[in-house]
Amino acid sequence: MTHVPTMPGSASERLRTGETLFQLLVQGVADYAIYMIDPTGHVSSWNSGAQRIKGYLPDDIIGQHFSQFYTEEDRIAGIPDRNLITAATTGRVEDEGWRVRQDGSRFWAHVIIDRITDDDGTLVGFAKVTRDVTEQRAAARELEEAREALFQVQKMEAIGQLTGGMAHDFNNLLMAVRGGLELLRPRLPEDPRTQGIFHTAMAGVDRGAALTQRMLAFARRQELKPTAVDIAGLVHGMADMVQTTLGSRIAITSRFPLTLDRALVDPHQLELALLNLFVNARDAMPAGGGIEIRAAVESVTKGHASGLPGGRYVRLSVIDEGEGMSPETLARAADPFFTTKGVGKGTGLGLSMVHGLAEQSNGRLVVESQLGRGTTVSLFLPVAVGTPVQVIETRDDNAIGVGSPPESRRPLRILAVDDDPLVRVTLAALLEDMGHVVVSAESGRQAIDAFDGGGRFDLLVTDYAMPGMTGAELAQSLRAVQPELPIVVATGYAEVALGTVHGLTQLSKPFDRKALASAIDAAMRVPLHRGS
Ligand SMILES: Nc1ncnc2c1ncn2[C@@H]1O[C@H](COP(=O)(O)OP(=O)(O)OP(=O)(O)O)[C@@H](O)[C@H]1O
Ligand SMILES: [Mg+2]
Repeated sequence: MTHVPTMPGSASERLRTGETLFQLLVQGVADYAIYMIDPTGHVSSWNSGAQRIKGYLPDDIIGQHFSQFYTEEDRIAGIPDRNLITAATTGRVEDEGWRVRQDGSRFWAHVIIDRITDDDGTLVGFAKVTRDVTEQRAAARELEEAREALFQVQKMEAIGQLTGGMAHDFNNLLMAVRGGLELLRPRLPEDPRTQGIFHTAMAGVDRGAALTQRMLAFARRQELKPTAVDIAGLVHGMADMVQTTLGSRIAITSRFPLTLDRALVDPHQLELALLNLFVNARDAMPAGGGIEIRAAVESVTKGHASGLPGGRYVRLSVIDEGEGMSPETLARAADPFFTTKGVGKGTGLGLSMVHGLAEQSNGRLVVESQLGRGTTVSLFLPVAVGTPVQVIETRDDNAIGVGSPPESRRPLRILAVDDDPLVRVTLAALLEDMGHVVVSAESGRQAIDAFDGGGRFDLLVTDYAMPGMTGAELAQSLRAVQPELPIVVATGYAEVALGTVHGLTQLSKPFDRKALASAIDAAMRVPLHRGS
């Protein structure tokens, strides 16, 4: 349907027709602002694209100075004139920046200014081509932000793997040290010097255990007992302890709504997390100051700044008026072992632990901070609905342990399985020290052989994470032969699914003698007649 004009005869006529065609072409381009400026910077032509992008009709703008397309800041800085001078001397300027439409709104422009000279080389003006690239720029930024977020997630995942692996091995080492010390204890002389050395060594083990606990928390591998927690009650319950820890120069205020949904989280770990946040806030206010703790329910929809899946969350915030963080510190604050507090002062695992707890609780940690403006650390925790999942736990040994029934004190024939030689030896030594008879195996396979060939066992104590066959798989095989066999499974991981075999007793690593004894008692008492 295109109409091709026929070329009339004379050369000058042909030239004029060519010019007209060219003008039509330029005029018809709607995606680019294409216009001319005279040597002094005044607009001398205007195409439809220029009108569309910048809003001016040709009559409004022709004859006006082109600097009015620039922002005021740029005009004050002399950028329009500088661009013209550069184009006049070098032939071309290419630039990106904010420009202003007739209605005052801004757009991100890609601009090219070309010098135009006549045959003698005299400057006759400039051709200016401007594109509105606001959307592309926004899209590029979004892509960049998405990449950055993905990188952050992958980084945390990788460090989590590393930290979790380290903590796992460390747990085994600490168990060996603790078990060894406990076995030595009764053989040590009572003199204060020896006892002092013993206690220092034990304190070192305890510190190590606390550290590995924080590392496991960061790696989202600690055992959690999520329950429906009344946040305001929990915070008020910690008040005295917190105030004593922080000292009198810190004033804590709380702000809770009259009614607040319960949050699904492990209350013990939440207390620890809050304590970490309070201590961080105090450290940021060396001369004292105020900390506010507040909570509210927040409905999160898709696209929320936290990146959380949609749903209702309790947002629990600790707000301080301390020194705040630089963007660099803020970006790394939750990285494990990142600290600005100097060697020996901070472990850099406080926020890491809180981050891990939030993630493992299906929530999120959000830290907002500006240098000199204080810090707000928020924990998003899912609102508790339905019945919480309970993990069998033997660590809390209030119920049993001291004054165990004599029944479980009788010598047992125990099959002890662990792939780590240090742990295996320590475990056997601890059990024998309790008066039991122990057969050790280093794998599930070996344990099954011992079981087949070695007669009846009263109890199986096995590690969970072993190559080839897990502790749970071993338990299942042995129960197939001896359905009533009491079993203790030692784990350092939270994700362990022990549900497949009925009546297993879980024991968290690192465990000491007392925890081991409680677990044995518990396993010996587990009723196995309910059927599963
Ligand atoms: N409320 C806060 N105000 C200012 N900076 C903070 C705040 N909380 C954390 N930071 C910064 O983040 C870093 C990491 O905090 P994190 O709690 O993980 O470790 P830490 O406090 O240095 O060591 P630890 O918790 O083991 O004592 C701190 O060293 C500090 O620079
Ligand atoms: Mg800290």
